[in-house]
Amino acid sequence: MTERTYLRFSLAHRLEHIVALSSFTILAITGLPQKYPSAGWADAMINIMGGIEMTRQIHHIAAIVLMLETVYHLVAIGYRVLVQRVRFTMLPGVRDLNDAIGTFIYNIGLRKEKPQGGRYTYEEKAEYWAFIWGTLIMVITGFMMWNPIATAYFFPGEFIPAAKAAHGGEALLAVMAIIVWHLYGVHLKHFNKSMWTGKMTEEEMAHEHPLELSEIKAGTAHVMADEPTIQKRQQVYVPLAGVFAVALLFGVYQFVNFEKTAIETVQPRAAIVPAFSPLQPTPLPTRRPTQTPAALKAVWEGNLSTVFQQKCIECHGGLAGLDFASYASTMKGGSTGAVIVPKDAEKSKIIAKMSGAHPGKFSDAELKVLKDWITAGAPEK
Ligand code: HEC
Repeated sequence: MTERTYLRFSLAHRLEHIVALSSFTILAITGLPQKYPSAGWADAMINIMGGIEMTRQIHHIAAIVLMLETVYHLVAIGYRVLVQRVRFTMLPGVRDLNDAIGTFIYNIGLRKEKPQGGRYTYEEKAEYWAFIWGTLIMVITGFMMWNPIATAYFFPGEFIPAAKAAHGGEALLAVMAIIVWHLYGVHLKHFNKSMWTGKMTEEEMAHEHPLELSEIKAGTAHVMADEPTIQKRQQVYVPLAGVFAVALLFGVYQFVNFEKTAIETVQPRAAIVPAFSPLQPTPLPTRRPTQTPAALKAVWEGNLSTVFQQKCIECHGGLAGLDFASYASTMKGGSTGAVIVPKDAEKSKIIAKMSGAHPGKFSDAELKVLKDWITAGAPEK
């Protein structure tokens, strides 16, 4: 005798589960190495997936799939709740809180009976709503990273790194929740195949969802409205849901295409122009220790040239105007003519300048050597 089975998940439900399962897994596999880029395992994973650009592309495609699935899910739920008026069994209530506490008390051995589960147990509801909440967070923070310029238009720039932190943190939480909560609840505690086969045996039902089982038996579990009423509601729901779905799909489209992200805007490595870094530092007039006046001789080369170099060249070393860089340019003078008149210190403009408050300032001893040099005919050597 074959045991009686109950349909728990329709084909549509099961397909949704497959889409969510695969996009979630791909998002985790491509996302977590991006969260820990400096780790060796992350590097290896990114390389296996074909490099960081490819990893990001796969991540984005999986994100689009999950977003489309979410849009479908909302429209389908809306149909079931608003048109068919089946009970919104996923809605959490006070009962779930009692069940959670009751299960805890049962688990620590202070209660004999385990709380009875309905269509969805509190564990299943918690997981479902965590998934919904998580997806919402991931969509919002994902949008911020995918469209950073648009984000910075509405929020301070700090929101972008904050979104990145939240995205990674929520991702880790979701993966942990799946490993701990889902894996334990659905695979370890009891291997629940109903999401694949769609069915549950009577024994399983009695064990996992006893309340629902008794409702099914009493004929009160899946009360639906009659055909004409459903048709009437459809006439309202279908156009409204259509507009809603189109708006959401437009949102997804914008999400993806609103802005060029780093993939296009960051230059490929080869095209990066090397930063200008001269091998030799730009020559600056370095101040050398002043020569002792005793050693300073009344001659240009190696003597006065050094004094000019130290004290004057930073202003008079240019390509135009008075230039003390060389003997010839010094003798030539500035735009108003020579500043040195050989053999006539009195007429040399430079002496008058140096006797005043002109910057650079020769010392008294240097000034004397300068005068002597001019009087001697300003020899080069
Ligand atoms: C901080 C910049 C600066 C330094 C240093 C400086 N000068 Fe000048 N010098 C000028 C400027 C600006 C002028 C033009 C305006 C003026 O005549 O004061 C000038 C003008 C002169 C003139 C007159 C040029 C002309 O054609 O009329 C002489 C001579 C001169 N400087 C000599 C020197 C000497 C010698 C030294 C070094 C001991 C020196 N200067 C250091 C800025 C400087």
